Amino acid sequence: MARIVKCLKLIIHLVILTLLSYFIKRQEPMKIVKKIERYVPDMKHILLWTKVPGLEEEGQRYFIRNRCEHLNCYFTMNRTLFSDLRYYDAIVFNAQDVSRSVKDLPKVRSLSQKYIFASNDSAGNFPVCNRLYDDFFNWTWTYKLHSSIPYRFITIYNTDNEELGADLNWKYDMKPITAQFRSSLSSKHLAAAIILDKCTTSSKREYFIHNLQRHLSEYNLTVDIFGPCGTRRCGRSSLKPCFYRIRTSYYFYLAFEDSLADDFVTRSVLFAYNNNAVPVVLGGAHYNKFLPPNSYLEAGRLGEQLTAKLMYEAIQNKTKYYEFFRWRNHYALKESKILNACTLCLFLNNESWLRHHSSYKTFREWWNPFYEMYCGLSRYW
Ligand SMILES: *[C@@H]1O[C@H](CO)[C@@H](O)[C@H](O)[C@H]1NC(C)=O
Ligand SMILES: *[C@@H]1O[C@H](CO)[C@@H](O)[C@H](O)[C@H]1NC(C)=O
Ligand SMILES: *[C@@H]1O[C@H](CO)[C@@H](O)[C@H](O)[C@H]1NC(C)=O
Ligand SMILES: *[C@@H]1O[C@H](CO)[C@@H](O)[C@H](O)[C@H]1NC(C)=O
Ligand SMILES: *[C@@H]1O[C@H](CO)[C@@H](O)[C@H](O)[C@H]1NC(C)=O
Ligand SMILES: *[C@@H]1O[C@H](CO)[C@@H](O)[C@H](O)[C@H]1NC(C)=O
Repeated sequence: MARIVKCLKLIIHLVILTLLSYFIKRQEPMKIVKKIERYVPDMKHILLWTKVPGLEEEGQRYFIRNRCEHLNCYFTMNRTLFSDLRYYDAIVFNAQDVSRSVKDLPKVRSLSQKYIFASNDSAGNFPVCNRLYDDFFNWTWTYKLHSSIPYRFITIYNTDNEELGADLNWKYDMKPITAQFRSSLSSKHLAAAIILDKCTTSSKREYFIHNLQRHLSEYNLTVDIFGPCGTRRCGRSSLKPCFYRIRTSYYFYLAFEDSLADDFVTRSVLFAYNNNAVPVVLGGAHYNKFLPPNSYLEAGRLGEQLTAKLMYEAIQNKTKYYEFFRWRNHYALKESKILNACTLCLFLNNESWLRHHSSYKTFREWWNPFYEMYCGLSRYW
């Protein structure tokens, strides 16, 4: 009898425990959502003055979906959400629009709110010309490493999958690649490719390509130009077939930016790295701050003739060519989320950073040191 009672007790306990855990599990997600929606005490309201690429979601959705460290930020494009523009903690201005026009700006301003200049593109493509913008922005949110809120197009990881921040302490003594990796390069037989969709650019890369082609032809090598600016075609709606061609056939990929600007190193180098081709770069950046050493050719610094010679030598001498891939034993490169608003929210939660009053007194020059030249012909000057 006593045994049966003990057994029954145990069963009842088990049933209660199971029911409890079932209810807890059921309620948890609902609770979290409620808490975020209603009980966040200190919300940072961010007005997107005009549309900013990648930040289309109203409210807190962006911050929740991306599991940001801070969720108490609120995006809106509604300028009349509050009765007065001074209620917003921050107003974000999009570079493309700032570069284009000055007509549409806030009429009132609170000195304790932050005016933020946000750009997903380069200072060469979108210089700011009107002097009204000097001493206008408090923070900048761009790819420039000296921005208030900087971002990178490419994030570097070590082999433990740890993100390396701005402090890239490169290892120079790198291990040779494996035989298996060497054999994956064995089908390559063409010198260089580039995928182009903008045919004339402020970086004048089209002239550089032309001259490089001339010098490569002395070695019987060519640059194959894919896309509307060249004669080769690969994938119409997706880049995948192009990437396949690069991976299987090409030794080098010309990762030439469409604009030469400090720190402007975009995902185009990943077209090379991700497809086992060596990137040839042409830009205004100090590439050592962005890419593993000895993993690329810096054409802007070398010039067309020497670049062509080094390409030829690496194609002839496989030992030399394989050295470009040694970084793979020590690092991994991934495309970053640009204009990552988690970081923005982090900054808006830093009281000392928030209270500190500052502005970019000579903003136009900070953004583009050559703005006078770029703006010379602009009708907004
Ligand atoms: C903006 O917010 C105001 C105040 O809540 C509201 O009346 C208005 O309809 C909103 N406008 C848009 C376009 O959502
Ligand atoms: C910036 O955003 C615009 C609009 O979404 C897009 O067309 C452009 O390619 C982006 N620029 C970069 C460098 O990603
Ligand atoms: C390039 O090709 C031509 C004709 O096929 C040949 O005479 C010449 O030696 C080649 N040059 C090089 C550097 O391979
Ligand atoms: C090939 O390149 C390697 C590494 O740079 C070098 O040590 C070797 O002497 C080169 N071989 C020839 C034949 O040039
Ligand atoms: C706020 O920002 C400053 C300067 O970047 C930093 O030193 C400090 O640790 C930050 N404070 C917090 C609470 O994150
Ligand atoms: C923002 O910039 C303006 C214009 O220079 C300045 O008057 C204001 O004090 C700054 N505010 C903050 C919070 O940095």
